Formats: sequence, structure tokens, C-alpha cells
Amino acid sequence: MTKTYDIIAFADTCVDLILRDDDIAPRFGQVEKTVADYELVMGGSCCIFATQAAKLGLKVALLGTVGDDAYGELILDTLSAAGVDIQYLRMDKTLRTGLTVHMVQGDDRAMLTYPGSSTTLTAADICDDMLAGARHLHYGSLFLQTGLLPDCVEILRRAKELGLTTSLDSNWDPAEAWDIDLEEALTSVDVLLPNEQEAQNLCGVVSLPEALRYLRGRVPVLVLKRGVEGASAWTKGIEAVQMVAEADAGGDGIGAGDSFDAGFLAGWLNGLAIPDCLSIACRCGRAVAGRVGGVKGQPYRSDLPELPALGRD
Ligand SMILES: Nc1ncnc2c1ncn2[C@@H]1O[C@H](COP(=O)(O)OP(=O)(O)OP(=O)(O)O)[C@@H](O)[C@H]1O
Ligand SMILES: [Mg+2]
Repeated sequence: MTKTYDIIAFADTCVDLILRDDDIAPRFGQVEKTVADYELVMGGSCCIFATQAAKLGLKVALLGTVGDDAYGELILDTLSAAGVDIQYLRMDKTLRTGLTVHMVQGDDRAMLTYPGSSTTLTAADICDDMLAGARHLHYGSLFLQTGLLPDCVEILRRAKELGLTTSLDSNWDPAEAWDIDLEEALTSVDVLLPNEQEAQNLCGVVSLPEALRYLRGRVPVLVLKRGVEGASAWTKGIEAVQMVAEADAGGDGIGAGDSFDAGFLAGWLNGLAIPDCLSIACRCGRAVAGRVGGVKGQPYRSDLPELPALGRD
């Protein structure tokens, strides 16, 4: 059966207001401080993932809602400009679009989030026809998307039953509870993409090697993101390692992991060998890490010589 989309993902719609200065800490007592710079851009792990995947030539649809407000329009415009299909994204008059304020200082940042539209999607919004129209489901922001979380195992199982391949990027759990039936969820995951801290927290163990041993045995492809140290992947007992050069100074790292995921899957869905998928992924992650916000640095298909020979444009 011909599929309309390469990837479908659930949209954690929010905008990022990124404030930057050498000393960004707010002072209470009604003290007004000025900041050196700001950007207002589309955020949301799955939204950033979607724009990167579309820029690499994949046909991507996002399912979700935005508020009926200027931030919602900013998100829809950014997604459309990148080539993401927004037909399953609804503007909801009863909602306000999610917002994260990032206070960036040197290599560090603090975040304040109003979840709004980013958490409202539920399993009832996902119909089989929609899922069956895609080759692959990428499930990101597992713990942040609280409306979906109670049904995450079932959603992944449904996708597999409908013939999709699946990937999971849990991202961080803001509640730090890491409360899912991991064993069961992983039976329906083809590609798992945590960073080091997430891998440990998901497994509830104190050592990274222990977490990796557990995860490697339960998913066909385990991909571990290591920030400036690059990334590793394991499949069929073989390990691949990709080192990276440090990203350009002046970036904030926002969205590096999400763009990495899209790069990896662009390779994987086109049947590339795992080391090539890792290489593409790291180039996407590094390019984004060196810029402000999650979307700006994202490379296009034409920037990645490994991809042009493949598939559609
Ligand atoms: N400072 C950096 N220099 C070079 N490459 C980087 C840097 N930060 C991230 N990357 C690249 O991006 C990839 C993913 O970044 P990271 O390991 O921070 O993922 P993450 O923790 O999931 O990020 P996110 O906060 O976006 O969820 C890394 O494997 C690496 O290839
Ligand atoms: Mg991440």
C-alpha cells in the first residue's frame, strides 16, 4: 500500500522565548534588568524534529493542536515553511499555545514552561486511518505529552499492528517520575533515542552501562546521544560510534537532540547503514547546537551528500 507520509509525530506545540545575557538571573523585589538579546521561535521537541525531517526530504505530518493566537500562527508558519504537512494540526479557541521561557547564560540555561497546547492531545485524537497513512511513527516528548502518556504503550502497539515502524525519544520527564511500563513499551519500539541521563532514568538504575545492557537487549536499534561527545548506536550486537567536533560558539543547544533524531531516521528509513545514519544525525545535531533556537541551523538535504541519491525530493 502506498503511504502518504514517511513519518507521523505527535506535536508538543510551544514557542521558545530565548533570553540571553552573561548574568540572566532575575531578581525579585520588582528589580528591572535588561538582557543583551532575545529570540522568539518555534519550540517543541516534536515540532523541531518535524521541520528537520521535512528539510531532509521526508514527508512528515504532525498531529496536535495550537492555540488560536499569534504563537499558534508562528508555529504553523514555521512548520509549513519547512514543508511539514499541517492538515492534522487544529487551532483551538479554548487553548493558549504553550510557551517556554529559556534564560540562557554561558553553557547553562533555566526554563519556565506554560504547557498549554503542548499537552492536550489524547489517544482519542489518534485514529487508525491517520496512523496507517504513514510508514513510521516518531513518538517524542513522552512524559511532557501528559494527555497521551497513560496510553503510550497502547499507541505504540497500535502503530506496530498497523504496520508502521516506530521510534521513541522520551526526552526528560519534568515530573522526574519516569513512570511507564518500559518493558511493555519497548516491545513496540524499533529505534530508541535517549541521551545518557534519560537512558539511566528510564531504566531506574544508577549506572549507565547497566542501563545500556538492559536497553540493548530490548530494542532492535538503540541510539545514545552524548552531547559534545557525539553518539553511539547498537544493533544486532554491533556498536557504532560517532565523534563530533565542538559546535560553533554562540548557540544554546536547544533542539539538537530532536534534529539528531530526524537525521538518524532520514538515514534509517532510507535503508542506510547505522554508521551513516549516526553520521547524518550528528551533523544535524551539531549544526543546531551551534545556533540559537531549534530550527535555524537545521541542514537541508542538499547539505548532506549521503542523502541525495536516495528516495524522493
Ligand atoms: N556542543 C555540541 N557540539 C557538537 N555537537 C553537539 C553539541 N551538542 C549536541 N551535539 C550533537 O547533537 C546530538 C544530540 O545532542 P544531545 O546529546 O544534547 O541530545 P539531547 O540531550 O536529546 O538534546 P535536547 O536537549 O535537544 O533534547 C549529539 O549527539 C551531537 O551529535
Ligand atoms: Mg532530547
